Amino acid sequence: MGQTMSIWPIQAITLEVAPLLPGFTIEVLSEIDSTNSELMRRIRAGWRDPVLLVAGRQTAGRGRLGREWQSNRPGKVDGAAGEAGADRGWHALTFSLALALAPKDWSGLSLAMGVSVACSLHPELQLKWPNDIWLRERKLAGILIETASFAGRRYAVIGIGINLVPRDGAGMRTPPAALDELLPAPAGPAVLRSLVADLVRAVLLFEARGFAPFQAAFEARDVLRGRDVVLSDGMAGSAAGVDVSGALLVHTSSGMKVITSAEVSVRPVGTNVSATGS
Ligand code: BTN
Repeated sequence: MGQTMSIWPIQAITLEVAPLLPGFTIEVLSEIDSTNSELMRRIRAGWRDPVLLVAGRQTAGRGRLGREWQSNRPGKVDGAAGEAGADRGWHALTFSLALALAPKDWSGLSLAMGVSVACSLHPELQLKWPNDIWLRERKLAGILIETASFAGRRYAVIGIGINLVPRDGAGMRTPPAALDELLPAPAGPAVLRSLVADLVRAVLLFEARGFAPFQAAFEARDVLRGRDVVLSDGMAGSAAGVDVSGALLVHTSSGMKVITSAEVSVRPVGTNVSATGS
């Protein structure tokens, strides 16, 4: 793992976020196995303060359900802000935020984080329960939330991967979407700057009030709502939005089902998009 000399907007983001999260710091690494794995290791080793860890490249990026998250080819992460992602080797922006969190109910946290990222990035982005951001029927970004307890406190690691430019979709049923379909030459530093403070505000709102304040915004971007869906456990029906805790509602032939399991994935009928693959 290597620390970079960085022109990432570390100071600007710290100035915005530290008043919300005392002790907040940012680190940018050129390479790490996985920003989530690294922050989970740090928490288990006794790390206390909120930290945002950004990686230029992950060698073992992880997604939900034990899946791999493929991100950048080897590349620099210390280029000038504003340069095109592809020119700098940024195929994706990959980062994780770790902080102590004590919501009354953890349900819906990944949905709330998706709402925040989508709202920060672009009005056209949609959300696919429970943790994906979609653009034009393809996956643009994914969110992996993990928690760990240490010394009586619970910590969340909120990992986010966003495709910036198109990349090899080999082995995937549908090539992923990329942010450059919406924004000209999106660069990691600028994209990060555009969403981190909102993300932190959203985490704190979630901690105070749960998923309820995010429900309407999720529904406005819900890509599944009203569509026939199939679940990985074989259930099929019509998606009917989410409830106040973020559970997916599915009308089935045997009545309305409330899907809360993090182990279930869902896809709209008629698409080939993998539920959780990057
Ligand atoms: C998914 O689509 O299932 C979630 C993908 C999450 C990927 C991000 S990239 C930064 C962080 N580190 C990881 O190893 N995974 C998350």
